[in-house]
Amino acid sequence: MKHAFECIIVGSGGAGLYAALETSAKAKTAVLSKLYPVRSHTGAAQGGISAALGNREEDKPEWHAFDTVKGGDYLVDQQAALIMARDAVQAVYDLEIRGLPFSRTSEGRIDQRRFGGHTRNFGEGPVRRACYAADRTGHMILQTLYQQCIKNNVSFYDEFQVIDVILEGRDCKGVVAVELATGEVHTFAAKAVLFATGGFGRIFKVTSNAFANTGDGPAVLARRGIPLQDMEFYQFHPTGIKGLGILITEAVRGEGGILRNRAGEPFMKTYAPTLLDLAPRDMVSRAIMTEIQAGRGMRGDRKIDDWVELDATHLGAKVLNAKLPDITDFCKTYLGVDPSQGAIPVLPTAHYAMGGIPTDLDGRVLADEKGTVVNGLYAAGECACVSVHGANRLGTNSLLDLVVFGRRAGLHIGDYVKTAAVPELPADVSDRAVQWISRLTDGSTGPHGGDISEEMQAVMMEKVGIYRSQAQMDQAVETVQQLRDIYDTVRVQDRSRPFNTDLLETIELKNLLDLALVTAVSAAARTESRGAHSREDFPERDDETWLQHTLAFLDENRVNLAYKPVDTSIWDPKPRTY
Ligand code: FUM
Repeated sequence: MKHAFECIIVGSGGAGLYAALETSAKAKTAVLSKLYPVRSHTGAAQGGISAALGNREEDKPEWHAFDTVKGGDYLVDQQAALIMARDAVQAVYDLEIRGLPFSRTSEGRIDQRRFGGHTRNFGEGPVRRACYAADRTGHMILQTLYQQCIKNNVSFYDEFQVIDVILEGRDCKGVVAVELATGEVHTFAAKAVLFATGGFGRIFKVTSNAFANTGDGPAVLARRGIPLQDMEFYQFHPTGIKGLGILITEAVRGEGGILRNRAGEPFMKTYAPTLLDLAPRDMVSRAIMTEIQAGRGMRGDRKIDDWVELDATHLGAKVLNAKLPDITDFCKTYLGVDPSQGAIPVLPTAHYAMGGIPTDLDGRVLADEKGTVVNGLYAAGECACVSVHGANRLGTNSLLDLVVFGRRAGLHIGDYVKTAAVPELPADVSDRAVQWISRLTDGSTGPHGGDISEEMQAVMMEKVGIYRSQAQMDQAVETVQQLRDIYDTVRVQDRSRPFNTDLLETIELKNLLDLALVTAVSAAARTESRGAHSREDFPERDDETWLQHTLAFLDENRVNLAYKPVDTSIWDPKPRTY
């Protein structure tokens, strides 16, 4: 089936919905989502959205921007960070006006709490910058934006999986998607397409990411020649539930929770004497692993599945129930622990991709290191890399990124579509997608994707995780290459058309394999430690050689790397201490 819109948005999380809200005021807009919109992974973001409102204590956007740059280990593009921090204040008030039920101070203002790496006056101590709706901030953003999009008559194509983008030279003309309910392939012609498909944490074995987070946007674009930026920087959130990876929000520490080792010691004082448990995530995750490797994990056996404890008992049931109700429920449900009575067993969990589809400040996708724009092609949110997170994102800057840059992309698209025409698509535009599906479902026998998926997740977790070395990453590249070869012989067992989840997962697996390869190759090439990319064989940051962004071009079975400079126009890179 063929469709035509002025604007197509792929993905219905915070970035996609905010963009749709803006484009729908000026352009006939449709949102394609593989889920029902309010099930998007933005809904899992718990602790808050940062903005220097100064409701609880003095704060300034410049302090916020500086923290973002320092937290990102100086790989952040600094003007972009400043724009994000300045836009943040209005963005939060816009959400409030649109109906978001923020938690309140006793005077009725939006309440704010502490979060990792957010400081007053360029690092003096923690500041209350995270605006929050209990521990359901992302969920509330989704609900608020979705109802506003419905009001604006945005068309929703729910449960449509994107499988290809239509590019002609440097022009984007639409997308190809499969409708899960029927198995039918649809083409969508559009003047402008925005990808807002979220993260790809499912390349790792233990992750806070939903099953749906399979990097569909970046993978589809990478296969069509668009580079991916800074993919080696993947964040491990310090506090996932041990063994399960389910997120225990940093807001627990923001409210006063303390990480302890097997001797009950609050060990973060050794690693970050000023910010303690509210140091940036890369540092806290490494601190936990160092404690475990030193035999100070709860079991004390130095194995990587040992854990430490997050103690929130002193906060008391009243505070926990009011400010962290979902976390309280999760602990009771998954662990049988009431966090007001007992400590929470935690271990770092793969959480967030700092890298992704390179864009400018208006969400326009960039095709190379020279900054060539692809007309009509946009990206925003976790799948994009405007470069505001650098080598390590600060907590609460992800919700902010998707609201600020989703909005900016939406505004730009609104102007762009005024002069562009809806393209005529050639008849064969969906052939590649149809052939792929036909091959997977042709009835012949081949290996099943499930085994490949498990092996990819295990190798990425073990060899491209918190600590890395050349030999490990080279091994990961080799294994992922082999798995990609095997993938070419994979067949799905279920060949029916309606709701074929076997087929869907096999398509998603291809996306994950491509992104795992790009991640591992980009990481293996960077011979320094910076932010979340921590190498045992190159433990120091090397600004002389590596103060640059990676651009990775996927070319069938090869990944070609190029580099481009980082914007350091405001603050000189300094060693990071907290
Ligand atoms: O810990 C959290 O609530 C996660 C927030 C984030 O990733 O920004």
